[in-house]
Amino acid sequence: MKPVKVGICGLGTVGGGTFNVLQRNAEEIARRIGRGIEVVQIATRQPNPRCDTGSITITDDVFAVVSNPDIDIVVELIGGYTLALELVLKAIENGKHVVTANKALIAVHGNEIFARAREKGVIVAFEASVAGGIPVIKAIREGLAGNRINWLAGIINGTGNFILTEMREKGRTFEDVLKEAQELGYAEADPTFDVEGIDAAHKLTILASIAFGIPLQFDKAYTEGISQLTTADVNYAEALGYRIKHLGVARRTEAGIELRVHPTLIPADRLIANVNGVMNAVMVNGDAVGSTLYYGAGAGMEPTASAVVADLVDVARALSADPSNHVPPLAFQHDALSAHPILPVSDCESAYYLRIQAKDHPGVLAQVATILSQHGINIESIMQKEAEEHDGLVPVILVTHRVVEERIDNAISALETLDDVIGKVVRIRVEQLN
Ligand code: HSE
Repeated sequence: MKPVKVGICGLGTVGGGTFNVLQRNAEEIARRIGRGIEVVQIATRQPNPRCDTGSITITDDVFAVVSNPDIDIVVELIGGYTLALELVLKAIENGKHVVTANKALIAVHGNEIFARAREKGVIVAFEASVAGGIPVIKAIREGLAGNRINWLAGIINGTGNFILTEMREKGRTFEDVLKEAQELGYAEADPTFDVEGIDAAHKLTILASIAFGIPLQFDKAYTEGISQLTTADVNYAEALGYRIKHLGVARRTEAGIELRVHPTLIPADRLIANVNGVMNAVMVNGDAVGSTLYYGAGAGMEPTASAVVADLVDVARALSADPSNHVPPLAFQHDALSAHPILPVSDCESAYYLRIQAKDHPGVLAQVATILSQHGINIESIMQKEAEEHDGLVPVILVTHRVVEERIDNAISALETLDDVIGKVVRIRVEQLN
């Protein structure tokens, strides 16, 4: 059988990795598909010294690839929204299947892209868009297809996890670690996407759609970054038996779906609390299977290429299938997507870690407890440290039971009006993940 013809747009970190994996594992891949995969054209602004492209046609015009009549599958690895969207829509219009690693593109424009692809009977595959080399999209979409998914929670930004790990283990500064992540090629072009949770929210949006069968709704995801975290909170969390991770959480409730990315205290003995460095992990809880955990490299040249090539294999296998038998991109049939709403964060529920800086007076703890009780908030544990030498203030640290966010916000506002409470109350969400 003739090989499947592929055009690659972008020969940077992931494009170069994809090209090299395709060359190196060509025989294994052909044994899996029943035919080979041949890269016939590459669009890149500059050659990648790590890739021996031999006699393959190289162009600097991505549209030459999407218009090439010989090409069956276009691999979009240029990133960003604008040019990538134009490129992908053009490829679909030209009847080409698309494989992409572009989470921003899928999270923001995926609904439109999938609708166009359905009209044209082509596949848009995007395994590499979430958690790099971990086949978590396939696991949820296909492996867990018998389940009603209850919730998922993931460490889905390697840069952020690397920063938190280095800060906790080595006491390094935030800026120092971020610089190293950029040098290693993990960070986004705009690193605020990593540290402010935008990259994780792109990935969480995709996972939630596949888990719950809802349209992609990135604009409704709540994001909170890690740049405001202090070493004091990291250490107090440890003393209470928790680790702080930058977690994406998607949970189905009767009222709607929670879709949120924020620093989170997790019990230190959970497997996911021990996912360190640039590694990613996603926990998925289904009604039949219970909790499952997917772990691996969430970024990097060949880990991400692993997912891109797996998509190429999937698409190549499906080339002769009737389009109505393609696996739906969002796991559920397009006319069966649910309108269950995404909840505003004020309606989401979790437990909370609070750190209150209080004057060292009799009765302060009683006032704090009274306010929390007036707001219907149950305290799970409380810890009072010795007065700080520099200001004489006493850090009062407590963990609450689960409560709707609006209540904790109101309680914090009331606490901050107390004469004996100084400055802002630090609030970090807590998830038990059990
Ligand atoms: N900037 C991302 C990360 C790369 O750090 O996880 C993979 O999406």
